[in-house]
Amino acid sequence: MATSFWHPFANMSDVKDKSFTVVRGEGNYVYDKEDRAYFDATASLWYANAGYGRREIIDAIKNQAELLACYSTFGDITNEPAEELADFVAQRSPMENSKVFFVSGGGDAIETAAKLARKYFHELGQGDRTLIVSRKDSYHGTHGFGTSLAGIAPNRVGWGDLISGVALVDRDDPEDLVHLANSVGSDKIAAIFVEPVIGAGGVHLPTEGYLERIREITKEIGALMIVDSVICGFGRLGYWFGPERFGVVPDMITFAKGITSGYVPLGGVVVSGEIADPFFNKGATFRHGPTYAGHPLAAAAGIANCQFLENEGLIAKGQELEGKLKEALDASSDSPLIEEVRGGLGLLGALEFDTDRRQSDPSIMAKVQMEMRSRGFLVRPLVSSIAVSPPLSVTEDEIERLGNAFVDALKAADR
Ligand SMILES: Cc1ncc(COP(=O)(O)O)c(C=O)c1O
Repeated sequence: MATSFWHPFANMSDVKDKSFTVVRGEGNYVYDKEDRAYFDATASLWYANAGYGRREIIDAIKNQAELLACYSTFGDITNEPAEELADFVAQRSPMENSKVFFVSGGGDAIETAAKLARKYFHELGQGDRTLIVSRKDSYHGTHGFGTSLAGIAPNRVGWGDLISGVALVDRDDPEDLVHLANSVGSDKIAAIFVEPVIGAGGVHLPTEGYLERIREITKEIGALMIVDSVICGFGRLGYWFGPERFGVVPDMITFAKGITSGYVPLGGVVVSGEIADPFFNKGATFRHGPTYAGHPLAAAAGIANCQFLENEGLIAKGQELEGKLKEALDASSDSPLIEEVRGGLGLLGALEFDTDRRQSDPSIMAKVQMEMRSRGFLVRPLVSSIAVSPPLSVTEDEIERLGNAFVDALKAADR
């Protein structure tokens, strides 16, 4: 019988008859229906930072489910796991006196940060400061603001009118923000969203000094810098959040994925004390928040996952292993299919496919993906590249085997 399950970002005409069922997970591997093991070089969707089947996280979820599986946190209601996780996150935030707003995932976090930026300026009496800026090739999820801010062109089309008061700037040149400010008026810009390393847009590393310069410019023009660390947080770049890597202190950080390693969906925004001030000290109300904000089960998963990452020394791994991963991917740089190898900043990387080859054979990346799968490796095709972002518990040996598998898979697909 044809499937009833509609997959996200999928061509269902193709997928409806040949989906790939993942049954169980353990460590850095997932297993199919025949119990064949696959090394998960994607950490699912850039999120299983702790790997799979971690007892500490599973037990924390079980215990919390028995105690209090769910309860709202609207108004004055709270729960202990949400309080504890908010403290944990705030204490590790690079900003002073941070406050933490929990939501259900990354897209929710983007909505929250964008609305909060506008509302903050409204409270300051700067109601005209509403323009929200993003970068070409960036990905900020699929909700209203995320779609309107999308830097990946095909993700913006087909939806009719998007949210107004948004603008795109160059991916690599921070001075483009200055040009925008000069043309629209610097007092009109509320915020810019910046991924430290652009993930879903193809793993694009920031140009030298990019984030630092954006911080300077935003301070000069009085706009907020929002770092979107939905992928880059919780160890992916070797730090809790990502911007620490560049010595940058933003105004807000959006997070999701790695905070629970995906065991239970959870996202949020860490906000500096200054941005929280009108709401915490001057009576303003942020009339915003999804039903599951501060969900106790998600928070319990988050606490156990963060403790696991910390106790196992996995946060630093994102930086320690970045060179090894780049070296393993570089082994494919001689392939005629590969135009560029990107990586070396955090535990993520991508093989960019030759443009002519993609045009003459649009299925080439899918072929390589399937060749990798048949060798027991899961990798992720993006716009024009194949990306990897293994769990932070990956070993050097596994990274080496991943690199060798790519070399073989590219040869097999090139026949
Ligand atoms: C940088 C970034 N921001 C936001 C999102 C959206 O997160 P979610 O899919 O949980 O809504 C993603 C998802 O991949 C992302 O990579």
